[in-house]
Amino acid sequence: MQSREAELQRLEEEWAAALADWAVPERFLAQVPTSPFELSPSSFKPDPARLGTPTLRWLAEELERLPEGERTLLDVGSGAGGTSLMLWPTAERITALDQSEQMLAAVRDNAAELGIPAEALKTVNSRWPAPEAPSASVVVCANVLYNVPTPVAFLRALIESATGAVVVEITERHPHFGVNPIWLRFNGYQRPSQPSAEAVGAMLRLLGHEPEVARWERRAADPDDPEEVGRLARRACIPEERWAEVGAYLREEPLQPTEVVAFKIRLA
Ligand SMILES: C[S@@+](CC[C@H](N)C(=O)[O-])C[C@H]1O[C@@H](n2cnc3c(N)ncnc32)[C@H](O)[C@@H]1O
Repeated sequence: MQSREAELQRLEEEWAAALADWAVPERFLAQVPTSPFELSPSSFKPDPARLGTPTLRWLAEELERLPEGERTLLDVGSGAGGTSLMLWPTAERITALDQSEQMLAAVRDNAAELGIPAEALKTVNSRWPAPEAPSASVVVCANVLYNVPTPVAFLRALIESATGAVVVEITERHPHFGVNPIWLRFNGYQRPSQPSAEAVGAMLRLLGHEPEVARWERRAADPDDPEEVGRLARRACIPEERWAEVGAYLREEPLQPTEVVAFKIRLA
């Protein structure tokens, strides 16, 4: 037991140190008006394409196993609801928790657009782990862990909040890993590659759960779509006047698709 806790602590310290390396040096931040880490609610809108991913298929299956009336879903780090809102009405009641009120306002707008009744949705503005954590039959946390320097407490709280199942989705590498070649080409700066999803799998096992694992790829950005090129260029601190050059570079050197991993733990 002692050695499990020691190993968890070691993994968490490695994770936190690797995440800290993703901080962007001041000289690059000075080149651009906005932080490369700024998140826009429009990037996390509910998208029917996500219904085909293992994460959403697993969530639907886990909800459908439950008797009607018990199909509740908690979405931690919900963003604009891109993961959970597509699951209504299979998920009879959805709780979206996020530290950003701007994201939660977008969840409510997106839910209204999808015709989800107000009584089926609750939004909670809080950091996770939350002091009075909401619970649900099924808990999902997608694309959040690279924001979290203390993943062990975070994962423990996800597991404690679920009665049926937990699904965690995470890209294999940091969400900005894919733009490393743009950093190198335009800023002459090598960005890190660690941490990776492997550490999350190891932490879940050390917490006493053998997860099911699914892997897939998200397509790389389209170099002919100025919006997608701008999104990547922003992440690499490239000023707007050079975005056309970034597009031309990506036509020559297309980026790799993003590898994504989902872990599922069934608790009951
Ligand atoms: C990259 S977005 C992912 C949104 C959504 N889960 C999805 O996959 O479309 C990450 C979200 O997690 C939220 N977040 C990050 N750390 C958090 C924490 N410790 N507690 C609550 N929310 C957090 C951010 O505000 C942001 O909305």
